Amino acid sequence: MARISQETIDRIRHASDILDVISQYVNLKKRGRNYFGLCPFHHERTPSFSVAPEKEIYHCFGCGAGGSVFNFIMEHENLSFVEAVQQLGRRYGIEVELTGDSGTKRLFTQLYEIHEIAANLYQKNLFSDRGNAALEYLINRGLSDKTIKTFRVGFAHGSWDYLTETVRGKGFTREAIDKSGLFGKGKQGPVDRFRSRIMFPIMNRSSKVIAFGGRVFESDDPAKYMNSPETPLYHKSEVFYGYHKTAPDVRSENAAVLVEGYMDFLQMYQGGIQNVLAVSGTAFTDRHALQIGKITQKVYLTYDGDEAGKKAALRAGYSLLQNSIDALIVSVPENLDPDDWMRKDGVKTVQEGISGALPLLKYHLQVTDAKNLPAVERSNLVKEILAELAEIRDSIIRDDLLQTLANELKINEQELIRKLKEAASRKRLPPPDEPTSTQTNLFTTVAQKAQVEILTTLVSSFSEVKQLVKDHLDLMSEPLLNKAASLFLEYDVDSTAVILEQFEDKIERDKIASILMVEQNIDDPQSVIQECLITLKAQPIKDKIEQARLKIRELEAAGQDTNDIVLEERQLHKQLLLIYQTNK
Ligand code: UTP
Ligand code: MN
Repeated sequence: MARISQETIDRIRHASDILDVISQYVNLKKRGRNYFGLCPFHHERTPSFSVAPEKEIYHCFGCGAGGSVFNFIMEHENLSFVEAVQQLGRRYGIEVELTGDSGTKRLFTQLYEIHEIAANLYQKNLFSDRGNAALEYLINRGLSDKTIKTFRVGFAHGSWDYLTETVRGKGFTREAIDKSGLFGKGKQGPVDRFRSRIMFPIMNRSSKVIAFGGRVFESDDPAKYMNSPETPLYHKSEVFYGYHKTAPDVRSENAAVLVEGYMDFLQMYQGGIQNVLAVSGTAFTDRHALQIGKITQKVYLTYDGDEAGKKAALRAGYSLLQNSIDALIVSVPENLDPDDWMRKDGVKTVQEGISGALPLLKYHLQVTDAKNLPAVERSNLVKEILAELAEIRDSIIRDDLLQTLANELKINEQELIRKLKEAASRKRLPPPDEPTSTQTNLFTTVAQKAQVEILTTLVSSFSEVKQLVKDHLDLMSEPLLNKAASLFLEYDVDSTAVILEQFEDKIERDKIASILMVEQNIDDPQSVIQECLITLKAQPIKDKIEQARLKIRELEAAGQDTNDIVLEERQLHKQLLLIYQTNK
């Protein structure tokens, strides 16, 4: 891996004032110690993107994105960490030397290269004699030569070593081969993972191939589609097939037409529906919602017309609403998928279908025939819907839907609000209106909260508490929080940005950034840490006591002897007392 010395990184970070850099992209206004502006990573109308110049970090309270100035450039320009450092280095006239390179190219460069080679190989194969039947099949399914070439569709024939042989001797490391996801383990080394499949390359935002979906062809493999596994390049839960081509249209129309399959995507795109996107190799996730929310606030879910498709569309729809994106459901005719529908009825009919899409809740009430359900079933449905609505943070959207629900089913709205609160507390969510960051909510248990507090105290009062935290680091059982605290202790600095840069995983970095963003003025940091430590020591014992109590109740109910367990519970209480006393 190419590396840049920490010293150079620090110099460049110092030279490139984070406010300066981010101001070039975001209009920032000072509020208190920090600066706020409209987040460049998701659509919003009121600013929740903030920069803390003293800490040299940014964090969006809306979408959770966060990091140092380099992470900002990485996200915004789609660059690797090293590339981001290089770019800022150039801008501020600081020379960047790569070290530790030792002739081998970086893992990511190699992974991209392997995918590029594979895409070319499969495509060439499709247009060769060996690919005749596959090509004919695709053309029979209505794909034009142009579409096939635009999306670089290819073919892997039955060979076990077609790709393997092609990449051999090209200087790829074993690590890159293993991590590419394109090879399986054979007795004598790697073998081709994809065989007898029509290959759909999956591209990232900058049109680089990062993975493949493969449709079975002339083989009795029961898995119709096989997709690349998770790799350093491919994070299924946030990737959309076709994004590199259609994102500009999604943006300009402020709407996306979302489908489930590669063929659905290609058929719609070819037919002229240019704001189409597909999920690939996984169901729609909250990460998908965050991702799509960066380019549009409206999604037409165009899923298969069968039961499974309807269900999946509802689930995706609620996930979108929960992320403040409008979700509408297109009624695809029973037993057709969008691909079939396009071919059967033509693009005009499909476009009319899209225009006639129903808002998610209305659709949900319609497909379940809610109005005519017997009381018990209707009540269950309302509960089910309320559980989804309870997770919608945007109170305007939520209230709107509550009103619709009340009107449509003729239920008293106050009654619904009461039930909604119940549903929210069952899920142990914070009351929906609290303006908390989505990320900090992930640490919800008493023990996790104590560890978050240790971390924030360590950041704000480093020199006062570092020894104390160091001595009890093993009590921080949450791996991510432990890692962050360890890094602070290891670097022996209070530079928040440096710590954040050590988290290569974006999700992890965002979470830590959201914690580090918290401003604190702590009078007596040592006793804050002490209290947290007591909590962490006591919590496992409290859990055991709770369990013992349950057990006692159970035994009593069954009329059995409880002596032993009562004794055990008493012992536990003594231990707990001891913790509280010795730490006073
Ligand atoms: P479908 O089974 O609806 O297939 O899966 P399809 O897209 O209509 O395929 P054709 O028309 O028969 O060629 C929809 C999507 O679900 C994923 C794929 O992304 C597929 O495009 N899928 C499906 C898998 O990942 N694995 C499977 O085994 C099946
Ligand atoms: Mn299909």
